[in-house]
Amino acid sequence: MSAPESFPEDLYQTLADFDQSHLLTWWNDLSEQAQSELVTQIQHINFAQIQRLYAPGATNQKTESPAQKAERATRPATVVRLEDRSSSPAESEEATKQGQKLLEAGRVGAILVAGGQGSRLGFSHPKGMYPIGPVKQTSLFQILVEQLRARARQAGQPIFYFIMTSDATHDETVEYFQQHQNFGLAEDELYFFKQGTMPAVDAESGLVLLAEKHRIAVSPDGHGGMLAALKNNGMFDVMREKGIDTLYYHQVDNPTAIVCDPEFLGYHQKANAEVSVKVVSKRSPDEKMGIVCDVDEKTQIIEYSDLPHHIAEQTDEEGKLLHWAGSTAIHIFNRDFLEQIANDDDRLPFHQANKKVPYIDGSSKQVEPEKPNAIKFERFIFDVLPEAETVLVYEIDRQREFNPVKNAEGQDSPQTAHEALNRIFSGWLTSCGVTLPADATVEISPLYAVDETELKQKISADAEFTSPVYLGE
Ligand code: UTP
Repeated sequence: MSAPESFPEDLYQTLADFDQSHLLTWWNDLSEQAQSELVTQIQHINFAQIQRLYAPGATNQKTESPAQKAERATRPATVVRLEDRSSSPAESEEATKQGQKLLEAGRVGAILVAGGQGSRLGFSHPKGMYPIGPVKQTSLFQILVEQLRARARQAGQPIFYFIMTSDATHDETVEYFQQHQNFGLAEDELYFFKQGTMPAVDAESGLVLLAEKHRIAVSPDGHGGMLAALKNNGMFDVMREKGIDTLYYHQVDNPTAIVCDPEFLGYHQKANAEVSVKVVSKRSPDEKMGIVCDVDEKTQIIEYSDLPHHIAEQTDEEGKLLHWAGSTAIHIFNRDFLEQIANDDDRLPFHQANKKVPYIDGSSKQVEPEKPNAIKFERFIFDVLPEAETVLVYEIDRQREFNPVKNAEGQDSPQTAHEALNRIFSGWLTSCGVTLPADATVEISPLYAVDETELKQKISADAEFTSPVYLGE
């Protein structure tokens, strides 16, 4: 067999070698433009890698499975618990000052990952555009950018924002920021960088799926794709040039994350850690959160789906959960540590996820699967943890800092995040001595006050408010 007319011969051979020639089923039906698009997509696929990743058990071949590892899991070595901070305020104040100094020296950059497809939420735009502010329906993006600006203002130094997008979110995100003048962030303080994609394969056969006759079914390569994306888009160079050596990392779905939290930065530095992770105390053994633990003296995260039930429910001599530390996916990374891992593309493993992926079948029929039919390949950023010499595990108050928007309703939904913001802002006003009407709805822009301390400098106890309360810049 030879390549169809105008299809590159060597690429044809590659497809044949990896049994993926079905991608050319509709070649002769395609316009020249569509043919050229298909060629470009095929050229970008590493078929040897796909074959390797699809092979049964591929992700576990090199090492033991995460469930086996979990059998040896112990509590992490370097931990700062909430009670440690409240019982030694002097130390916590010192950490805050230390973190503040890092910010004032311009050494901190912020990374926001916003490339996910947000399929559980089912919102037809990038998740960051979701309206979540209790009064003004401020979007997740705006809340986070304003927090960053408020911190930068406190520090008297810009904080550069590195926002990761994907093919699924890039154009709309960039346009949204442009329409809103970057929510006040200067053009040169904002960097968008796009992550890569991976093709989805049919779960039964390993064949790469076609979304359309000329379009391969691809999806973003996971938040771990951030490492390659930072490197390939020259972001490490930008950071180095600007003297940024410490990176605050967060995800677009949590409006209550404390962006560039000075105290967290300070503890990270004091611990001499390469990576830090904010954790919350798990509500129950089976709560669907990755746990942070040590295995063979390496701090790591084991996903809830990999954690056997009998280990999840282990307790210590006081009856408390042994593996209490649930990851919130808020991190600090040292830039040189990340860069070193990014320089070796094989360091981060791929994970397989069984998902529903629409495709066209052999008779060109569009299929909308009702159950998972495909495997997607994704990298997870937390897989860098075991590469670090020291990981600081830092406990936070869930109610204050961890209220992600994951699902359309129920737990971790817009409603719970909305309620959390309202509760937090109302609590700040109440602690200023203000009496609020019952059931008041409150929203405070970070540019008005980034935290309770800043609010106290502006609000007197006899101030009167009627609901809804909005305090803006
Ligand atoms: P999730 O794992 O919750 O995925 O992402 P998601 O895409 O938002 O939602 P579902 O699972 O499809 O419902 C956690 C964070 O990682 C980012 C997301 O944008 C979110 O901030 N992410 C995820 C990426 O940036 N790229 C990816 O490939 C995946």
